[in-house]
Amino acid sequence: MRKYIVGNWKMNGMSADLTEIAAIASVSAKYASVESALCLPATLIGRAVSAVEGYIIGGQDCHMNASGAHTGCVSAAMLADAGARLTIVGHSERRADEHESDADIRAKALAAKAAGLEVIICVGETLEQRDDGKALEIVLGQLAQSLPDAASGDWLSVAYEPVWAIGTGRIPEDKDVADMHREIRAQLTTRFGPAGAAIRILYGGSMNGENAAMLLSIPDVDGGLVGGASLTASKFEPIFAAAAKSAE
Ligand code: PGA
Repeated sequence: MRKYIVGNWKMNGMSADLTEIAAIASVSAKYASVESALCLPATLIGRAVSAVEGYIIGGQDCHMNASGAHTGCVSAAMLADAGARLTIVGHSERRADEHESDADIRAKALAAKAAGLEVIICVGETLEQRDDGKALEIVLGQLAQSLPDAASGDWLSVAYEPVWAIGTGRIPEDKDVADMHREIRAQLTTRFGPAGAAIRILYGGSMNGENAAMLLSIPDVDGGLVGGASLTASKFEPIFAAAAKSAE
């Protein structure tokens, strides 16, 4: 499995940042053994796709319906029409801020698949849940409920993102990442068989140039979903480099 490194720009990015996006695309091209993509605000997708020629641009969410009376929402078909090739669904910021349920996320993933997009479904526990010893139960529960029965590695990846590690500079102990990814893999293969064995499991939450090599060396960590460190080519490149090295 090639390592998959995906940037998530969240609610960041203006026209002026198209040059940085182009810089990220050209830096990523130096690491042919690494697959990568950048998930941008919907407003930038079309222009970024034109600016980067061949680099994979994605969205960060989509509506579960293809069209209709949903003021302010963007459908998966619209993302695809703008040139996006994938979308994130179920990021913890949307689970928390927009009260998205596992059922919503499953419906969104299916809508994205129907529009021809690849999908990254996010799961992860809060600090309180981890401190209560419930991390595994919560994450495996989210996984069971958020993934549709049609899940397979050719269109779907999972991102394990401990909520308390996102944007905080804190990451879990390597043993905790290893335990979680092993359990996620076990559920995927039990439920989906060989198709589940091929689903990539990304780690997300404060991945950066310093910790990427360690995180990407953990078994069943097939890549990273990267927020803050994906905002500039200079911060993002060391993660591509670490991913390339781990594949050697
Ligand atoms: P972070 O965000 O790398 O800034 O912690 C990751 C994410 O939320 O996807």
